[in-house]
Amino acid sequence: MAPNNAERTYIMVKPDGVQRGLVGNIIARFESRGFKLIALKLVHATPEHLELHYADLKGKPFFPGLIKYMASGPVVAMVWEGLDAVKTGRSMLGATNPLASAPGTIRGDFALAVGRNICHGSDSVENAEKEIKLWFPEGVVQYEHNQAAWIFE
Ligand code: RTP
Ligand code: MG
Repeated sequence: MAPNNAERTYIMVKPDGVQRGLVGNIIARFESRGFKLIALKLVHATPEHLELHYADLKGKPFFPGLIKYMASGPVVAMVWEGLDAVKTGRSMLGATNPLASAPGTIRGDFALAVGRNICHGSDSVENAEKEIKLWFPEGVVQYEHNQAAWIFE
């Protein structure tokens, strides 16, 4: 499918990323890459909410530990919009296991353990739309991004 300038992805700094003071660094990477921020909030999610977010992983041996970790503190929930946002967001994150993440990626620069990999990114356009609805039932913010003419041809 052709890349879409207005594709949206759900990016979330996990509790370890918040505690380690990496929120600003992660936001700066998406901002400076040229993505448009259309929703953002700090939220301490309930286990029930996180079980919906990670519903696809229910039954995996690491699932209970994953929910406990994700509910252990606040997360920064964000929606970023831009060209091929889902795939680009995933490449900016790096591999799920930080030991396999290339240096220069978020996980490759800041993490070592798969269960403490500091940031989430949607893995498909369909899941991005589901996650945006789950975390931002109030909707995202519409505005004109004045940099767009300098970012896109
Ligand atoms: P995320 O959804 O958080 O962006 O991570 P991901 O797509 O790269 O990986 P996913 O398969 O969706 O797994 C979600 C999170 O579960 C933890 N995990 N632990 N112990 C393990 O083998 C294992 N596998 C996954 C990780 O924290 C992963 O980010
Ligand atoms: Mg995932």
